Amino acid sequence: MTVEAGTTRLGPPDAGELLTLQLAAWVREGRTAGTIEIPPLQEGLADVEAALADPAVTTWGYRGPTGRLLATVRTSMIDERTAFVGRLGVVPDLIRQGIGGAMLRLAESRLTGVSRIELVTGIHSLDNHAFYARHGYKIVSADEAEGTVRLAKNVHLIE
Ligand SMILES: CC(C)(COP(=O)(O)OP(=O)(O)OC[C@H]1O[C@@H](n2cnc3c(N)ncnc32)[C@H](O)[C@@H]1OP(=O)(O)O)[C@@H](O)C(=O)NCCC(=O)NCCS
Repeated sequence: MTVEAGTTRLGPPDAGELLTLQLAAWVREGRTAGTIEIPPLQEGLADVEAALADPAVTTWGYRGPTGRLLATVRTSMIDERTAFVGRLGVVPDLIRQGIGGAMLRLAESRLTGVSRIELVTGIHSLDNHAFYARHGYKIVSADEAEGTVRLAKNVHLIE
């Protein structure tokens, strides 16, 4: 599975579609966490627009043949050599077909000058832990109060 052909960088005009994808994709995560009070489900249109307008954040969107927004992921830098990958989401009707993995690989491949990648997911989201483990990430810390774990992987530095 590759998403290269259908993936573009999203911007503020895509905010409505991205909000819809975000709300749909994260409901399952909210169920697992036992709360809908998680950031992807709390944000509104203005928050999504602001993230898309932030030059420090790169948001990728994958569209299917009809133009429908099917998946997203975003990246930013924590420090000079460490990237953060976040908001990896796939529309609920198309999960488990390899799109999420392909989006993660695409986001990683577009990073430059990076030797470490970190991300955060729910402490109880065991499916996500397995998914990220398969992509080489290991849990490095847990925040019981926040209900999250941080995962990281070291990567070969690409200049
Ligand atoms: C996490 C998420 C992005 C994964 O996306 P996805 O498209 O389902 O990912 P993939 O299909 O690449 O992989 C998921 C699993 O399906 C399996 N799979 C992949 N292709 C498959 C296929 N053709 N048939 C059956 N299973 C398949 C993979 O083996 C993988 O299993 P694993 O979790 O044990 O590694 C998606 O479930 C999602 O949007 N979740 C809600 C938001 C969220 O929690 N995001 C992550 C936290 S930031």
